[in-house]
Amino acid sequence: KIANLNGLEILDSRGNPTVRVTVELESGAHGTASVPSGASTGMNEAVEQRDGDPNRFSGKGVLRAIEHIETEIAHAVVGRDACAQIEIDSVLVDLDGTPNKARLGANSILGVSMAVACAAAAAAGKPLYAYLAAGRPVRLPVPMMNVLNGGRHADSSLDFQEFMIMPVGAPSFREAMRYAAETFHALRALLAADGHTTAVGDEGGFAPKLANNEAACELIVRAIERAGYHPGEDICIALDPAATSFHDGNYNLERSGQGRKNSKELIELYESWVSKYPIVSIEDGLAEDDWSGFRRMTAELGEGIQIVGDDIYVTNIDFIRRGIDEKCSNAALIKLNQIGTVSETIDAIEFCRSAGWRYIISHRSGETEDSFIADFAVAMDGGQIKTGAPCRGERTAKYNRLLEIEHQLGADAIFDNPLKELPFSS
Ligand code: PGA
Ligand code: ZN
Repeated sequence: KIANLNGLEILDSRGNPTVRVTVELESGAHGTASVPSGASTGMNEAVEQRDGDPNRFSGKGVLRAIEHIETEIAHAVVGRDACAQIEIDSVLVDLDGTPNKARLGANSILGVSMAVACAAAAAAGKPLYAYLAAGRPVRLPVPMMNVLNGGRHADSSLDFQEFMIMPVGAPSFREAMRYAAETFHALRALLAADGHTTAVGDEGGFAPKLANNEAACELIVRAIERAGYHPGEDICIALDPAATSFHDGNYNLERSGQGRKNSKELIELYESWVSKYPIVSIEDGLAEDDWSGFRRMTAELGEGIQIVGDDIYVTNIDFIRRGIDEKCSNAALIKLNQIGTVSETIDAIEFCRSAGWRYIISHRSGETEDSFIADFAVAMDGGQIKTGAPCRGERTAKYNRLLEIEHQLGADAIFDNPLKELPFSS
């Protein structure tokens, strides 16, 4: 039974305040979780509560969210069985009473929801992934590693937010990490040789001033080769343009000198890249409200590559349902803090599964050293995780936890290419 909740205002990887929650059980077991924060957030996401006091952290303090945790939320959950995750999450949702968790804040609610799961796992004497899997199959995910950062995540010249590598051909998670880290170092060497900066962006990828988005794809292919791997076989490319962030009626690619495009023209650009580069996945290729554009993109490209919706669905079954009905993609990005409780996140995943969609467990650009999503990705058996470059401690915290889980599972560890049915584009 839950005995006590404690909140703490800590810092995220961008130096902004965020919420950490510790749940203590009567047995003495406890669980702690920290909440991440996005920069290119979807308009329909659950909202994080910020104090708005200009004298503290430019208004970004989270003391009010923490007060909610220690008063109102504690009052509602103390005495409840920590194993009753669904019940506790629905108590939290009802207590908040708003559709987007604005009253108590998705940051306070999610922190409690995750910490409850951690405490219950500790009480059961199980690793978090095993507790969350509840006897169902588990799988190590193939990482999507953001090695070149642009858009709102970096002061680079790239209007596309994320250029990622996916070591799909690796035989194990451990080897996938090695393929990716070696490619990351090869990329650093190529950038340095061309006189570019090798400073990194929010998610640990390099943030150079390249000529345009296409140059980024070319450079990644060269880095894969230089590291001794085969592009399209060992390592593929995944993109998250995060197109909402450069949509102003048209898609504005002027930052990288590619002019302005409508949906159709942007999809044509993607098609031309897919035929040239080993791209296997494109997330948020269009803006969050461009449902017809997503439909067209899935019709044109969905047979060949993974089309992922992030800002358009915000891990919310109402939007995912529409996406399934209208065939707007064939996969969804899953972020706990877009919806705000562990149970609702699992519901969104079940929904994807029932439609035969793939799903990718994801970090946020503002992260902490919390590694909940590593265990969560293993337990949810989707075979994909997106959690940044193999660089910056808040990103490697997740990868290192996955290495640990793979080690613990030993011969039972399953690692497989989740995109193997897709005809590779190279
Ligand atoms: P965010 O970006 O965490 O800044 O929202 C991540 C993404 O768009 O996938
Ligand atoms: Zn995204």
